[in-house]
Amino acid sequence: MLRTHTCGELRNTDINKTVTLCGWVQKSRLMGGLTFIDLRDRYGITQLKLSSGNIEGYGRECVIKATGKVIERESKNKNIATGDIEIEIEKIEVLNRAVTPPFTIEDETDGGDELRMKYRYLDLRRNSVRKNLELRHRIAIETRNYLDKLNFLEVETPVLIKSTPEGARDFVVPSRMNPNQFYALPQSPQTFKQLLMVSGFDRYYQIVKCFRDEDLRADRQPEFTQIDCEMSFIEQEDILQTFEGLVKYLFKTVKGIDIPDLPRMSYADAMKHYGNDKPDTRFEMKLIDFKAIASGANFKVFDDAETVIAICAKGAAEYTRKQLDELTEWVKRPQIGATGLVYVRVNADGTIKSSVDKFYNEEALKKWAEACGAEKGDLILVLAGAEEKTRKAASELRLEMGNRLGLRDKNKFSCLWVIDFPLLEWNEGDPNLLASLAGRWHAKHHPFTSPKPEDIELLNSNPGAVRANAYDVVINGVEIGGGSIRIHNKDLQAKMFDILGFTKEEAQKQFGFLMNAFEFGAPPHGGIALGFDRLCSMFGGADSIRDFIAFPKNNSGRDLMIDAPSEISEEQLNELNIANVIKKN
Ligand code: AMO
Repeated sequence: MLRTHTCGELRNTDINKTVTLCGWVQKSRLMGGLTFIDLRDRYGITQLKLSSGNIEGYGRECVIKATGKVIERESKNKNIATGDIEIEIEKIEVLNRAVTPPFTIEDETDGGDELRMKYRYLDLRRNSVRKNLELRHRIAIETRNYLDKLNFLEVETPVLIKSTPEGARDFVVPSRMNPNQFYALPQSPQTFKQLLMVSGFDRYYQIVKCFRDEDLRADRQPEFTQIDCEMSFIEQEDILQTFEGLVKYLFKTVKGIDIPDLPRMSYADAMKHYGNDKPDTRFEMKLIDFKAIASGANFKVFDDAETVIAICAKGAAEYTRKQLDELTEWVKRPQIGATGLVYVRVNADGTIKSSVDKFYNEEALKKWAEACGAEKGDLILVLAGAEEKTRKAASELRLEMGNRLGLRDKNKFSCLWVIDFPLLEWNEGDPNLLASLAGRWHAKHHPFTSPKPEDIELLNSNPGAVRANAYDVVINGVEIGGGSIRIHNKDLQAKMFDILGFTKEEAQKQFGFLMNAFEFGAPPHGGIALGFDRLCSMFGGADSIRDFIAFPKNNSGRDLMIDAPSEISEEQLNELNIANVIKKN
């Protein structure tokens, strides 16, 4: 080894030892004819003291090897672990020079997002980013520990597979050896893990890369990682218990937090009370149906609306007119889509004032206050319009008010199961799906999900009302994982494909391998996948998963560092038989 110790290791007890450290120059400075260098590595920072007053050659980010004696520091630095000591340098060697980095390698950096992504290897030198990856490592290790104890086997599944519709578009890879044919990258190892159950593997897991060509957001990357799991001879309850156990175990071992049993909420209740299938349950502020109470006062906006929904923001009655006008503009933004906002202040002195006083007297408004449990000092906000749009807008408004009132503390965790999802949803033309799938039923989770046995007879008469044995684990309003009990019967699987609009031939062509496997003794099985990146960012208290991925892509799906995707050579195109399909500019 070039070094005897790391830059985070030396303490008072090492005084008088001769040591050799290697690392990067965080900064160097001249003081009283001496040179001081802060030397940094993954483990910390140690101060080097040189008797010569010359900082030439020891610029930021140079790689240095230094040997010297550990001595007690005159002015101690309580902010760093090695702050009691410094190294009196006897020999110093520059192992490699560095040009000035494009941004400062410090916790509070001056580099913007794009610049940091372009020089990601420098960004990864920063403590805060490195800590995120250390956290990721710890969560992976503890996940493996937990699952290994329960007899889960980690099995790798292929990355070059056949296109399977899981909800998003596939990334495809042309095959040189099979002209005009393409592999797809897996959106998840779904069919493989089911086949492993047919093989008798019984308990499978994999921490695995998945690929989805969908619109990107803070919590979505085109390639991301799942903790993917499957079990045989189980029922939904067993999966809920096993993976609730994993979530609790990770909170305990990684964050030292005991979390209570996960409450369960039906999809229907989540939509009714929160307008959202991934409710943030750190705070109440439930959606209250106001249609009945608010109709019939000749206020056309409410009378004509399909839905009227109120929320009660505790302690917000003092919102100024200006704040309320700004909030009204906020709900009218196209992303939220409300047409307006009605407010009612339940003042501290007991009076009630609203933006619709012309239509509702104080008596009526008192009833409103009662209906949503508003007390003195609270603010009631009301939205009206078409059901789906209004519920969604109310959900967004609730989250926004949660932010504004400081109710979404990143150090507080509220986990739950959302269960009883609908099996199918009608696809009006979801931009994340192929256009040819519009105007058809679409599997809400995926086509392998089992309907609830008691709802199977509705499959023909009222497919939209069939509930699935499907479940999501939600933490602080983020869908951390989802899974289901699978169909393991060939006929039911074939029926499902039929409902999803596949002809018999199409279903056989795309999924014949799975349905055939079901004829060779498929056990009852089910599973779940947790979004590993999302779990890491949740544990790290961040909104974006990007900083928990070593080399992430930007919002256009580009890797700015290696500049991918990129064009390929004419020769490659020819070999892949796709030269003729590339449009030349
Ligand atoms: P699902 O599609 O719900 O289920 O995905 C499971 C979890 O993966 C995470 N996730 C993502 N994370 C980052 N970027 C993305 N683009 C992205 N997409 C999904 C989410 C999500 O809850 N095969 C099924 C699982 C099963 O049924 O067992 C599946 O993939 O946290």
